[in-house]
Amino acid sequence: MQQIKTICVCGAGTMGTGIAQLCVQSGYSTLLFDVQEVVLQRSKTAMQENWNNQLVKGKISQAQLDQFESLLTLSSNINDCVADLLIEAIVEKLTVKLDLFQQLAAINSMKTMMVSNTSSISINAMAKKLEDPFRFAGLHFFNPATQMKLVEIVKGDLTSEAVIKVLQEVSVRLGKTAVVCKDSPGFIVNRVARHYYLESMFLLEQENVDITTIDQVLEATGFKMGAFRLMDLIGIDINYHVSNIIWEDLGQPKRLLPSMLQQQKIEQNILGMKTGEGFYKYYKEME
Ligand SMILES: NC(=O)c1ccc[n+]([C@@H]2O[C@H](COP(=O)([O-])OP(=O)(O)OC[C@H]3O[C@@H](n4cnc5c(N)ncnc54)[C@H](O)[C@@H]3O)[C@@H](O)[C@H]2O)c1
Repeated sequence: MQQIKTICVCGAGTMGTGIAQLCVQSGYSTLLFDVQEVVLQRSKTAMQENWNNQLVKGKISQAQLDQFESLLTLSSNINDCVADLLIEAIVEKLTVKLDLFQQLAAINSMKTMMVSNTSSISINAMAKKLEDPFRFAGLHFFNPATQMKLVEIVKGDLTSEAVIKVLQEVSVRLGKTAVVCKDSPGFIVNRVARHYYLESMFLLEQENVDITTIDQVLEATGFKMGAFRLMDLIGIDINYHVSNIIWEDLGQPKRLLPSMLQQQKIEQNILGMKTGEGFYKYYKEME
């Protein structure tokens, strides 16, 4: 079975940053790629702050921190994206992802495995545009990727069993619990979780229940984060795109109709924690 030694993470946003940090901490030589230099620098600063905190708390040694830094490379040049495993974590848009995969396929060997961290786009829809769909699958991390235990390994119709085995091994090395699932709309978690978000927004819009009350009740019930705090963490744009894709793919059922509330916030660039405001306001100074 092929051994993965080098990983390239494409997209240095919320998820790419966490996934790259996790890969580095698990000993993989990791290249983090993004089209925006400023995003790459922000991502590196976030990782360094996190490692420095771990150092201060005695969770890692200086030698480990030095090793993490030596394993991480940043690049905004697509030609650097050559690795044993490519993990795509860019915007949730099929055409943009396909364009990236085609560029990556052109510069990598036929042995390279490609996975998408998509929350909702069909793995088969992406695979059918690739020259070698056998080496392609979904590898769906959850936010924050460094902390959430679960990953969904999404098997496309043509994904080879050998690739699934390698992804299971990589997941174990990353400290994750991996579940292999079918390529169906929203896979498992996002399909079930749609109601968590949508019903919370219906309650706000139709019954005028305020967001703090809804979140407090959900958290008191045992959910780690209320729906509105979670949407702010995920990114309202990302969450809305996922809702749209699942709704379309399931034949536009009324119960899963995406919320206008999110659409309006996106139009105003109110996207959650990453822009300093979502359903809540975040006072941390933004760049
Ligand atoms: N946010 C979440 O909670 C979450 C959870 C699981 C999965 N996902 C999935 O992960 C992916 C990324 O989500 P995110 O929240 O990190 O998004 P994000 O908006 O935080 O980051 C996306 C990044 O991709 C970069 N980018 C765009 N086009 C690019 C290209 N062609 N090449 C390289 N970089 C490019 C952007 O510059 C940006 O930095 C999406 O597919 C999303 O569905 C998100």
